[in-house]
Amino acid sequence: MRDVAHDGRDRSSEDYSSENSAGRTPADRGDPILQIDSVDLGYDELLVVSGVSLEVYGGELVGLVGGNGSGKSTILRAVSGMIQPRAGRILFGGRAVGKGSPHQMAEMGIAHVPMGRQLFPNMTVEQNLALGAYLPEPRKHRAGSLAHVYDLFPDLHGKRKVVAAALSGGQQQMIAIGRALMLRPKLLIMDEPSLGLAPRLVKEVMQAIRLVSQTGLPILLVEQNVKQVLQISDRTYVLENGKLVVEGPSKQLMGDEKIRRAYLGL
Ligand SMILES: Nc1ncnc2c1ncn2[C@@H]1O[C@H](COP(=O)(O)OP(=O)(O)O)[C@@H](O)[C@H]1O
Ligand SMILES: [Mg+2]
Repeated sequence: MRDVAHDGRDRSSEDYSSENSAGRTPADRGDPILQIDSVDLGYDELLVVSGVSLEVYGGELVGLVGGNGSGKSTILRAVSGMIQPRAGRILFGGRAVGKGSPHQMAEMGIAHVPMGRQLFPNMTVEQNLALGAYLPEPRKHRAGSLAHVYDLFPDLHGKRKVVAAALSGGQQQMIAIGRALMLRPKLLIMDEPSLGLAPRLVKEVMQAIRLVSQTGLPILLVEQNVKQVLQISDRTYVLENGKLVVEGPSKQLMGDEKIRRAYLGL
């Protein structure tokens, strides 16, 4: 665990002394699937994110938490190619991201579940899911991918002919996640999937995310809901005003009284 607010930003991979949830040390994990390396991000004159470094390794569920306006969505936009870093770099599977369009990022295997879900409310569950397989390669596997999504979320199968608007907020979020899975991604990035949901539904969605993670797909999960993220993620990064202030295995962050009070509001 690193309290980056107090020891600067020198965080080479050797600095991680703790084991991840799989009980392996970072040295065993190979190269990260996603490597965000000292990026500065912003809009026009506004610098929003500075010096942020973050990695996601194969099979990991990584949380990125922070208050409203701290820069979480901006980081996800950079990962999926919607904005370009002003400094630093982003590597996906060892290849530079950042000059690619969102379309190219999707082709490389990054699926972005956007904030607010953005479903077509008057289309059926299955029509919404099918839209996720819009690229040529995923389209060839559409039937198998649908079966995989229904396997993960059986409730959606029961409602596949129903319009999306008729489902609960939690189930609609599962459609949004399922649609992203239809792309057969190598990395899933999610922007505040629990936003606007009642507590019971938040739990349901978090369990759904955990299920997806258990299939081995690496996930970067952005949330304001710190407690929920710490409960399901392997590691968590905490962002404040565009800078990382603390990061580490979620269990350790949870168990550290000082961290909880200073950064997590728990
Ligand atoms: N398209 C944009 N143009 C200008 N400023 C933006 C834009 N999107 C976000 N911002 C600003 O960037 C900051 C961080 O926003 P954002 O990344 O959305 O934070 P978060 O997702 O953590 O709530 C905020 O101050 C916000 O006003
Ligand atoms: Mg946001």
